[in-house]
Order: sequence, then structure tokens, then C-alpha cells
Amino acid sequence: MNENPIKKIGLLTGGGDCSGLNAVIRAVVRTAILKYNYEVVGFIGGYYGLYHNNYIKMDLTTVSGIYHQGGTILKNSNKDNLFSYRVKDEDGNYVKKDVSDVAYQNLKNLGVDALVIIGGDGTLTSARDFARKGVKVVGIPKTIDNDVPATDITFGYRTALDHIMLALDSIHTTAFSHDRVMILEVMGRNSGWLALEGGLAGSADVILLPEIPYDIQKVAKKIVDRFQRGSKFSVLCVSEGCKPLDGDVTVKKIVEESPDSVRLGGAGEQVAMLLEKILKPITGQEVRSTNLGYIQRGGVTNCFDRVISTRYGTYAVDMVAQGEFGKMVAVHHDKMVTVPIEEVVGSGEVGETSHGGSKVVDPNSDMVLAAKAIGVAFGD
Ligand code: F6P
Repeated sequence: MNENPIKKIGLLTGGGDCSGLNAVIRAVVRTAILKYNYEVVGFIGGYYGLYHNNYIKMDLTTVSGIYHQGGTILKNSNKDNLFSYRVKDEDGNYVKKDVSDVAYQNLKNLGVDALVIIGGDGTLTSARDFARKGVKVVGIPKTIDNDVPATDITFGYRTALDHIMLALDSIHTTAFSHDRVMILEVMGRNSGWLALEGGLAGSADVILLPEIPYDIQKVAKKIVDRFQRGSKFSVLCVSEGCKPLDGDVTVKKIVEESPDSVRLGGAGEQVAMLLEKILKPITGQEVRSTNLGYIQRGGVTNCFDRVISTRYGTYAVDMVAQGEFGKMVAVHHDKMVTVPIEEVVGSGEVGETSHGGSKVVDPNSDMVLAAKAIGVAFGD
């Protein structure tokens, strides 16, 4: 148990938004107040709010009516690593500086005894660094990508899958009506979970993943075979992080201020261009690509994510009460458990966004093998 009883907790959300964030916030606030009688403050805009001492007092009313809503009432930022913060020096040039002491002092002044931090690998890396500084930290993993190691599932993932499945259902109608090849590009960074599970649910004929580099000739062969069998359309679900056998990922832009600066995008268009060149003389088919984009991160939170978010949030506050700091809530075989944050993000230097290694798809996993068994091609 804690030597110093907890009276006030802080809460922040970092990284990209996703469905279920508000459900976690609601669960944390309600558990903190109703079960433990804690006060709660929420920092606005993630670590940015912690640095600028921008916070709101949270009560039951603050979290009323937000359960099902996507996004986060506390706002997010994916650029504010306070251990390596982009500031201007005297000459007006940008330099990286450790400004975490300011945040530390803000927490002290506010009387915040423990901090619940909700985020993906970048946010959790800073959580690790605050824990090293002596802040009592509990982490909750968040991302639609489902790539955070040491947990079976992150909230937001299943809602994103629903969007992908429905988009693929829609795209099928155009593919069929126009005898076309239609591509849906989905998010996921360097992990293919969204493309794999969404593609399988949405009945994609071809799924391209970062974990299985594709041979465009093999992808084309699958489509030609279907065409010659009488299925004159094909639908592909393509991960933004997929890459050709002898090539690399498609980068959309570099966000200098972001700790993880590479933004992927354009893989679908790339595959469309390569495929159309091969297919036109054989089947005459046109190839079109749609990028589902941020639709995957928004919308109404689905049933699964509402419940898992609630479990994540309540368990995190239980961890605070039990003095389990420097740890993250995780799901193992449908049980809530704790894992050291260092195990999740790695034990790199302070300020360094060290990815403990993303959780990626095993090309020999049951799900990939099931997809292959029903004829889905992966371009390998
Ligand atoms: O990590 C979540 C995610 O949505 C990825 O799937 C995607 O590559 C990235 O964030 C996009 O980030 P941004 O919001 O900076 O464009």
C-alpha cells in the first residue's frame, strides 16, 4: 500500500485520438470519485497541458454523456515529448531541451499525487521517463493500431475494424458494378493488424501487410485468376505500412516536431499504379484506390471498446490505490494485469522515444493461415 495516501490524481491523453478515449476518461473519473473519493484534474492537450499547467477539475458532470463519443474531451497532442522538447534558442533556431522539471513542479504545486497517462508508445515512453523522475505513474495503452506490446488488445482497435469492414462492404458494390479492382488503404503504421482483421471481416481478396512484403506479380496473378474464373472484380485491403519485396514503405510526410516523425500514406495509390500497368493488357480492368484515413479513428465507440475502456480505466485507478506505479494496465487472455512500462517501451535513455518493438502480425499465425485457407492472397 502507499505510505502517503492518494488524495488527488491527474489524467492526460497523448498521441493520436481514437475511439474509447472518452470511455476510459469516464471510467477513471467515476472510479476515482465513487470508489476512492479522490479529486481528479485533467490536463488539456496531453503533455502540452502538463507543461503549461493547463488543466480542468473533473467531476461526475464533466464525464457525463461522453461514453459513446469518439475523441477525447481532454484533447491530444502527439508532438510534446517534454524530455526532448523543441524550443527556440537565443538565435531563433530550434533546439531540443529537457523541460520535464517544469511539468514536475506543476504536479507538485497542484498537489497531484499520481498521474494516469493514456497513450501509445510515444506517450508511454514519456510516462516511463516521468516514473524515473519519481512521479507516481500508471499507463493505459491506446491506439487503433493494436501494436502496443505486452497487451493482447488496445481500446479503439475494434471500433476502427468496424469502420474498415463497412468501408470494404461499400467498396465491393462499386468493384462489382464496374468490374473494377478497388483498393482500400488502412492505417496501422508498421503493424498489419487493422488490414488483416479488417480485410478478413470485409471479405478482401488480397490483403497486403507490412509483415509480408508483396510481389506485385503475385498480387496481379490472383486478380487475373479471379477474372478468368468469372469474378471480374477484386477488392484489396492494403496496410499503409506495406512494402514491395524489393522496396520500402510509402512516406506521406515528415512531421519534424513529432518524436515519431514519419507519417505513412500512399501505399494504396502505389499498388494501384503498379497493378493497373500489369492488368490493363490482360483483363482491361481499372484500379482505384481509396484511403480510409481518419474515419478509422473517429465515430461512435462500439460495444467492445466501451467495455474494455471501462475495464482499463477502473483497473488503472485500482493500481493507483494499490501503489502499483511505473506500470501499465494490460489485457492478457481477457484478464486485466499490470506490466512494467519499461517492458512495453524499452529501457532506452531518458528523452529517447524508444519503441520496445511494436507488436506485429506473425505471418504464420492462425489468422493469416485461415485467410490463406479461404483463398485470400498476401502477395507472397
Ligand atoms: O498510431 C495511430 C495512427 O492513426 C496510425 O495508424 C497513423 O499512421 C498515424 O496515427 C497518423 O498520425 P497523425 O494523426 O499524426 O496523422
